[in-house]
Amino acid sequence: MEIKKIMVVGAGIMGSGIAQVCVEHGFATVLTDVKEEYARKGKENAAHFLERKVQKQRMTEADKEKTLALLETAEGYKKGADADLVIEAATENAEVKKQIFRDLDETCKADAILASNTSTISISMLAGNTKRPCKVAGMHFFVPAPVMKLVEVTPGLLTEAETVDILMEFARQIGKEPVKAPDTSAFLVNRLLDPMWNEAMYLVMEGNRPEDIDKAMRLGANHPMGPLELADYAGLDIVLAVMEQMQRDLGDKYKPCPLLRQMVQAGLLGRKTKRGFYDYSKL
Ligand code: 3HC
Repeated sequence: MEIKKIMVVGAGIMGSGIAQVCVEHGFATVLTDVKEEYARKGKENAAHFLERKVQKQRMTEADKEKTLALLETAEGYKKGADADLVIEAATENAEVKKQIFRDLDETCKADAILASNTSTISISMLAGNTKRPCKVAGMHFFVPAPVMKLVEVTPGLLTEAETVDILMEFARQIGKEPVKAPDTSAFLVNRLLDPMWNEAMYLVMEGNRPEDIDKAMRLGANHPMGPLELADYAGLDIVLAVMEQMQRDLGDKYKPCPLLRQMVQAGLLGRKTKRGFYDYSKL
């Protein structure tokens, strides 16, 4: 099976970044959300980063226009019903994602692969909400999706080997390095990263300054970003969802830090709400 057309469901930071990667590698892509207005905003986000490439003379204006012409925006799934591959990048909520997979299964062509960009929700469970579990898998990108090289490809219990092979190959076609990850809580990268972020939040509760914690990990461990600025970047609601899922699946070792829960309850979700461990209101 050859992948020619993609549909990306959810036009937030991840969805728009994934759609950007797909069109930059020549794939016709439909970016859809519950309202077309959100999808258009996602396309504007991709256009912004392509424009930066033009300014840095890494892309011509003509190539930018050609690339953006491959990116169609939509509301709902009809425009992408003939897509060969759907990448779901909606909100990190199991009930929402289960419904999306039921709807996609109804609308999309029978041989389309349905992939989820979930950080932590069981792929086998999402697959169980479709009549094509053999064609459902995880395809997990990292923020910022246009820059980060890795894609975790996760088969569910019933995913057929061909689906995994197609996704691994597709990841390479869009310039990524795939790694096969297990369908256990948080796969590989988040299983390691999120507990570190959680620990950094305990250090804040113990009175340490976020600036010092981040500086320590940037300079002492050569991380490009400190744990708290990266958690702000990924979204504190996502981090909480991942920790909660890990706690449910793997035990209290992964209990979310109380400060994390409190910040999410207060609507301090990081960069996307302009406030998290840092203030982004002036950016
Ligand atoms: N979208 C698209 N492109 C972006 C971008 C974005 N949001 N942010 C930065 N870029 C591009 C820039 O345009 C630039 O491109 P160029 O090299 O072609 O000019 C390039 O990235 C580098 O950007 P900058 O020069 O502005 O900044 P830095 O050199 O400081 O790099 C960074 C920024 C790539 C974000 C770097 O700090 C980094 O690697 N941080 C760590 C990111 C990370 O660990 N991500 C994983 C998080 S975990 C996760 O995603 C899991 C999920 O489930 C929560």
